[in-house]
Amino acid sequence: MRHLLSTDGLDADTAKAVLDTADELKRTLLGREVRKLPTLRGRTVVTLFYENSTRTRVSFEIAGKWMSADVINVSASSSSVGKGESLRDTALTLAAAGADCVVVRHPASGAAHRLADWLRETGTSVVNAGDGTHEHPTQALLDAATLRERLGDLAGRRVTIVGDVLHSRVARSNVHLLATLGAEVTLVAPPTLLPVGVEAWPVTVSHDLDSALPAADAVMMLRVQAERMHGGFFPTAREYSIAYGLNETRARLLPEHAVVLHPGPMLRGMEIASAVADAPSAAITEQVRNGVHVRMAVLYHLLAGDGGDRD
Ligand code: NCD
Repeated sequence: MRHLLSTDGLDADTAKAVLDTADELKRTLLGREVRKLPTLRGRTVVTLFYENSTRTRVSFEIAGKWMSADVINVSASSSSVGKGESLRDTALTLAAAGADCVVVRHPASGAAHRLADWLRETGTSVVNAGDGTHEHPTQALLDAATLRERLGDLAGRRVTIVGDVLHSRVARSNVHLLATLGAEVTLVAPPTLLPVGVEAWPVTVSHDLDSALPAADAVMMLRVQAERMHGGFFPTAREYSIAYGLNETRARLLPEHAVVLHPGPMLRGMEIASAVADAPSAAITEQVRNGVHVRMAVLYHLLAGDGGDRD
């Protein structure tokens, strides 16, 4: 694997290999006092974030550090980007300075692909940590790791994704990966928050959350991405919450074994009630924990997979 740009086109064998490596890393590190492996010693990972982030940026940094890579964080607001430098020049600068991997988050869909194009000659790998409304592949991988842990093999499992699908790169990456892993995906959203062309996706679409929940093995709640909305997509936050929020009464419609996921950041009281987010059926902090192991696995497959230090 040279880059990780999307889950669209990621084959089942590669996805499962990354998930298996993540499981193995998790087992290896469990209970260790010193969580440090020498695997990526001498490698340099740069995180380049043009959008806000807490868990994605931090977990990439921790992942790199737990594998002994040198990790450097560049935030657009404090770099030469603030002086007007283009994404291309910034990327070439980072590669020239010695970055083996650039983890990029950018508000423009397609930015990570462009970066990979520009860095073709350099040997630097690119990981897409979220590009606009397009994809967020490591989020989908960590969601799959969490679901596998709770439910076992995902083939034939039913996953319901709820909310602002239109603006969600998390939803897009999950739809592709879950389909590749053999799960059945249902999208539940108001018609205004579904993308044009959703009929061609490998999913079932519904506008009625109550009728979708009893059949779900897992439900993934999405944040309403107000920062990407220019105009009214629903009447009021209260109405959205009444129709599409996972409140306590509604959560009782789920089967006993069903898992509740949320990529974070959560808007408690909007798309998910606090009591539901904090219940044992919710795996939201497990998602964050698994995110570190999944990102370690991704860095391993990119940087140590071919002839690197495999200790
Ligand atoms: C998501 C993102 O940035 O796409 N957050 C994350 O990475 N966990 C989802 C969101 O912002 O709602």
